[in-house]
Amino acid sequence: MELCVALDLPSAKENLALAESLKDHDVWMKVGFRAYIRDGKDFIVGLKLINPDFKIFLDLKLYDIPNTMADAAEEIAKLGVNMFNIHASAGSVAMKTVMDRLSSYESRPLVLAVTALTSFDEENFQMVYEKSINEKAEQFAKMSYENGLDGVVCSTFESRAIKNVTSNNFLTLCPGIRPFGEDAGDQKRVATLELAAKEGVNFPVVGRPIYKDENPESKVKEILKVMSSL
Ligand code: C5P
Repeated sequence: MELCVALDLPSAKENLALAESLKDHDVWMKVGFRAYIRDGKDFIVGLKLINPDFKIFLDLKLYDIPNTMADAAEEIAKLGVNMFNIHASAGSVAMKTVMDRLSSYESRPLVLAVTALTSFDEENFQMVYEKSINEKAEQFAKMSYENGLDGVVCSTFESRAIKNVTSNNFLTLCPGIRPFGEDAGDQKRVATLELAAKEGVNFPVVGRPIYKDENPESKVKEILKVMSSL
């Protein structure tokens, strides 16, 4: 498992200070809407200046017509980030167009598709997708696998079933991780690190439990220690 830390703080200064405090650890930095909309490309450059080896996941969940998504994917590849994501509900043509467009890049970023947001409970999910989370997540995962994506964003609870219907090498990145049972906040389907490991999760994503802790670095150390023992 590789830990992915969500940089969701209210200013670039705070996010960069968090990154600085974690620069000696082997962790992924997740740059989401808040940071990217506010701080853009410079923020990515700022992270690389702190540690050129930081792996960066740009969590912008692209969703548009295929050509627009492929254009955006290409711009993302040029930023030099290591992973980004699209919404699986954009469909198989969008997936294929994105992957085709990236095929000319020597070291393209990993591409994941969002299946079901971890903030959905079953009732609210069915109101939108008219299927159960499990059923839809597996269907989206198969579609992503067949179109050459590298993995999916899902909850820990779907990780194993998704690997069973795709491949054990198909990556699962799972937000909603509460390493030591911390407050779930708006997340509806949360899991501990132990469960994430059992379910074959490749990338546990942790935001608030780290950046709201009074000592984020020691929290990350504790998390990495548990992860290495699993
Ligand atoms: O603070 P917390 O640990 O809940 O942060 C989870 C992070 O993962 C947030 O940045 C959120 O936007 C992101 N995310 C998510 N569910 C998804 C995809 C991304 O919670 N399905």
